Amino acid sequence: MANVRTPAFNLNEWVQIRALEVDTALDRFLPKATAKPATIHKAMRYSIFAGGKRMRPALLLAAAEACGGTIEPALPLACAVECIHTYSLIHDDLPAMDNDDFRRGKPTNHKVFGEGIAVLAGDALLTQAFEIAALSDDWPRYSHREIVLEIARASGSLQLIAGQVADLEGEGRDLSVPELKYIHERKTSALLCASVRLGGMSANCTPAQLKALTTFGYNVGLAFQVIDDILDVTQTSEKLGKTAGKDVAAQKATYPRLVGLEKSRKIAAQLTARAFDALKPFKRRAPALEALAHYLLKREN
Ligand code: IPE
Ligand code: IPE
Ligand code: MG
Ligand code: MG
Ligand code: MG
Repeated sequence: MANVRTPAFNLNEWVQIRALEVDTALDRFLPKATAKPATIHKAMRYSIFAGGKRMRPALLLAAAEACGGTIEPALPLACAVECIHTYSLIHDDLPAMDNDDFRRGKPTNHKVFGEGIAVLAGDALLTQAFEIAALSDDWPRYSHREIVLEIARASGSLQLIAGQVADLEGEGRDLSVPELKYIHERKTSALLCASVRLGGMSANCTPAQLKALTTFGYNVGLAFQVIDDILDVTQTSEKLGKTAGKDVAAQKATYPRLVGLEKSRKIAAQLTARAFDALKPFKRRAPALEALAHYLLKREN
């Protein structure tokens, strides 16, 4: 029998196509820039369309594909998680938090629209996420209630917000590795993990698949923030689209600060290996998830 080789998975192309679909849907879901009051809708759109990597939507759609689902029921959820993520960035950049002037290669929301509007643009995007999820059609195995709870819990005061609180309170303090892991689990891994899970749920995944996706998402999410910490030290602002070296300046608790660059890289690789392991039940039928985990470890921005 001829040796049939499957063509290598082209992640770049895959992400480009998905990102375009997500952007088109986001444009449809968000109020027009001219809708009154125009300032807030301009501000929401400014940050949403500033050029993010769209990794949470990509993970969500890849998980849906891995479970045999189609893009249609997953797309609203992909938009919802991107709205939550973008809101968290707008607020994260505020002078009262990380005080950053650049994001996604552009001046931050508050630099363009002022702090008041930036706070409100974040609030509006957070709310928008729940509207998008609530307006979606039903998914046979998972109810609206479960979907909305998933988004709410990942973003709430026990997860994303908890991580942001501990991140602020950790400035200038020498945290232990478990304390830093607590921060990363919440401020970053929770939403990434929820994105992966929501993708599976939109495709009516089995409980066993959901379990595998949870382990995958948790570990990829942790690796994501370790790499973010590393890139802050090793990359230029141009490459990152945000000011490099800010973590050292703000005395943030990070992996490079706690354990050094080399050990940080090892930890990120270990977490990614754990994520790969979790995909075993998919028997190599989750090429997009595999490729994303690999890319997220090797990424340069
Ligand atoms: C940055 O996230 C914030 C973190 C949680 C580390 P991304 O690196 O995904 O930012 P964008 O969406 O590409 O701008
Ligand atoms: C941001 O973490 C996490 C959230 C916004 C929830 P960081 O503060 O490290 O993200 P960057 O480096 O500003 O993108
Ligand atoms: Mg921060
Ligand atoms: Mg920040
Ligand atoms: Mg960072």
